Amino acid sequence: MRTMTLEAPAKINLTLDILGCRTDGYHDLRMVMQSVSLGDTVTVTETAGGFSLLAEGFTPPAGKTTLEQRAAEGFFRRLGHPMPGLEVRLIKRVPAYAGLGGGSADAAAVLRCLRALYAPELPRETLEEIGLTVGSDVPFCVRGGTCLAEGRGEVLTDLSPLPDCTLILCKPDFDLPTPELFARVDGADLGDRPDTAALERALRAGDLSAAAGCLGNVFERVLTEEEGTDIRAIKAALLDHGALGAAMSGSGPTVFGLFDDPSKADRAAEVLKGRYRQTYLAVPVKRSRAAE
Ligand code: C5P
Repeated sequence: MRTMTLEAPAKINLTLDILGCRTDGYHDLRMVMQSVSLGDTVTVTETAGGFSLLAEGFTPPAGKTTLEQRAAEGFFRRLGHPMPGLEVRLIKRVPAYAGLGGGSADAAAVLRCLRALYAPELPRETLEEIGLTVGSDVPFCVRGGTCLAEGRGEVLTDLSPLPDCTLILCKPDFDLPTPELFARVDGADLGDRPDTAALERALRAGDLSAAAGCLGNVFERVLTEEEGTDIRAIKAALLDHGALGAAMSGSGPTVFGLFDDPSKADRAAEVLKGRYRQTYLAVPVKRSRAAE
């Protein structure tokens, strides 16, 4: 029986800047993305026929082809082979609709599993191209590590890794739909932009404090008063408990903080968990050899 299991690390955006609207309905972005140790576990198994997705603790949206199935279909279309029967089993740990790329990470892990099982010679670039047909964050999730992501998110440049640190990811109890947030950005005054070049320099120098000083996400500028109140409260709590920097990830609403002292991070996580149940400790993940 052909079967393969891989981890699917979530991502955070150390910076997220929106450069403008495109004619294809997407936006041009400039962001620094970082894989983190909070992740799902994805197992792909060949079966006698059909496609099934089994996910403990997660109900895939009804009536829509899932990202996992679209990834598998895209993979076999690119190979020019009929798709065999497949079962995808997920152990879900990453909250959905959180700005952490959970669904994109699962789709990317399906692609990496399928390559290992059916086409080990397929270059990673091809896997990233198939990933882009599934979603803008999937190419980064195929590659992992620390990257500058431009274009829709698929033009990737490897960066020096984020120095070792402890991360807290904290998701308040509301969802922010990505397309709506992008729509709010159009015509809005986004004010000061995150300094992506300064972050790249800080990463090259291996300077965690300087990197933490460069975090920023323009989506924070288009939150409603009510949404912004929670986001600001989580950032303030993280900074009060010793985070070197904090920002919202992706289109939110998860906020993350960077700590150089794990015991301060433990304490901060304990305090935040009292108010926000979906609070997680994590560390940055470097690009894995399996992703090559
Ligand atoms: O690519 P993906 O399907 O994940 O994107 C979800 C939505 O986010 C798109 O339909 C679009 O509204 C918005 N988006 C965007 N520009 C990007 C990526 C996403 O406008 N670069």
